[in-house]
Amino acid sequence: MDFSYSFTFTALVLLLSLISLSFTAKLKQQQKKNKYHPVAGTIINLLLNFNRLHHYMADLAAKYRTYRLLSPYRSEIHTSEPANVEYILKTNFDNYGKGEYNHSLLSDFFGEGIFTVDGDKWRQQRKASSYEFSTKVLRDFSSVVFRKNVARLANIVSEAAISNDTMDMQDLFLKSTLDSIFKVAFGVELDSMCGSNVEGKEFATAFDNASVLVVYRYVDLFWKIKRYLNIGSEAALKRNIEVVDNFVYKLIHNKIEQLRDSKDDSAVIKKEDILTRYLQVNDTDPKYLRDTIINFTGAGKDTTASTLSWFIYMLCKHPDVQEKVAVEVKEATKSMEVKDVDEFATSLREEALEKMHYLHAAITETIRLYPAVPMDGKICFSDDTLPDGFSVRKDDLIVYQPYAMGRMKFIWGDDAEEFRPERWLDKNGMFRSESPFKFTAFQAGPRVCLGKDFAYRQMKIFSAVLLRCFVFKLSDENKAVTYRTMINLHIDGGLHVRAFHRCRT
Ligand code: HEM
Repeated sequence: MDFSYSFTFTALVLLLSLISLSFTAKLKQQQKKNKYHPVAGTIINLLLNFNRLHHYMADLAAKYRTYRLLSPYRSEIHTSEPANVEYILKTNFDNYGKGEYNHSLLSDFFGEGIFTVDGDKWRQQRKASSYEFSTKVLRDFSSVVFRKNVARLANIVSEAAISNDTMDMQDLFLKSTLDSIFKVAFGVELDSMCGSNVEGKEFATAFDNASVLVVYRYVDLFWKIKRYLNIGSEAALKRNIEVVDNFVYKLIHNKIEQLRDSKDDSAVIKKEDILTRYLQVNDTDPKYLRDTIINFTGAGKDTTASTLSWFIYMLCKHPDVQEKVAVEVKEATKSMEVKDVDEFATSLREEALEKMHYLHAAITETIRLYPAVPMDGKICFSDDTLPDGFSVRKDDLIVYQPYAMGRMKFIWGDDAEEFRPERWLDKNGMFRSESPFKFTAFQAGPRVCLGKDFAYRQMKIFSAVLLRCFVFKLSDENKAVTYRTMINLHIDGGLHVRAFHRCRT
């Protein structure tokens, strides 16, 4: 008995020692294998630096290139290293995505749209919408819409110029780009520029409120409880989504009826807007259509408006560049004189836009320094090692940073912080693009921005008309202009300028 007891005891000790030895060896091996990026702070530092968030992150990026911020739930890895960006956005694409984390935060508003989903759900939508965005019909129709809307905007600017009033260009751009994307998406005039459509105005306000409130969830630890109890910001979010949904579903049902009534006379309905085209070729499920249109509207309205605002700001700060753009537009359009803004806008052809390499470069240089989406995060789906040799764990959030990257000397050289459109031109003055893993403003890889060409066309049409007709100057040269920290890079407090008629200056 004694013998068997002592044998069992010895065997147990031996077994435990073996397990412990192998565990220690494994741990050592793992520690040797896994090294993690340096910890630069915690998410408390983000909150403390909230108003200057992108400056703070650019400083950290210059110091570490890639670093970790600790949070109670997961590590956040922020990277400005092009090789890492290429790896997460392209090389190992399937291992990084929106994940359940982003989906749970965004789906109450953005539904199952392209921005919230991964895998097959994403692939199916990407395929359908890539096709739509590449059609000549959409290209032609959207150009007509952009030309009409910039003519409206130019008339407002003209009145302000005549009466020497200052105006908030960012506010005007936000209204005009919303009207544009809405017309392209639904085929309906929202007219937020003049405010003639009361329901449309309510929709626009509710859309903006819902976008802000849904993003607020990223910093609100209690949002799920608040949603359950229907209180505070969550109650407001629900109310705003209801306003958006009522408006959108009404438009979808009207369009379905319109199409049904005109079945025998298909010439009556023009198949130009995205909704009509989807109804005819893809799907008639109202929820799917609602999600698709909300996602396009969200993607297409503030991005181009904020870029155009920073662009005008840059041109006010660099009058020589403003002058060069105006000369290029004049030569490319062969417009010695512009007597009528509407006529000039209508006559602006794609061939003329294609000749405007300097304008393209100046807009791109603006986006390098002021990217509309200043940072963008992906969830890691399984443990991995990045090209720089450091490890990431399943469920970590990896953030690539277009704002910080645009200002890194190790990417752009010593003049990284200077506004210099020439860096985008070759010796013949032709635009030359950069690696999308260095210039990350439109994302890269399979999920690269679907609306990039659409956005450039809109921004070039708007800029060409406005700069051919007006000179812009800041209303107060000494006032500091900076961003407001939110999902898109808006100018805090708007962009207040004066315009002067070019021919009359
Ligand atoms: C200056 C203008 C723009 C910039 C800087 C920009 C930037 C971006 C970025 C960074 C993403 C990735 C977002 C993510 O991780 O989900 C994205 C995706 C997307 N963008 Fe844009 N965007 C612009 C304009 C537009 C416009 C005008 C449209 C359409 C009307 C559009 C449609 C989309 C769509 C549909 C996606 C989702 C692609 C996917 O997940 O497969 N974008 N864009």
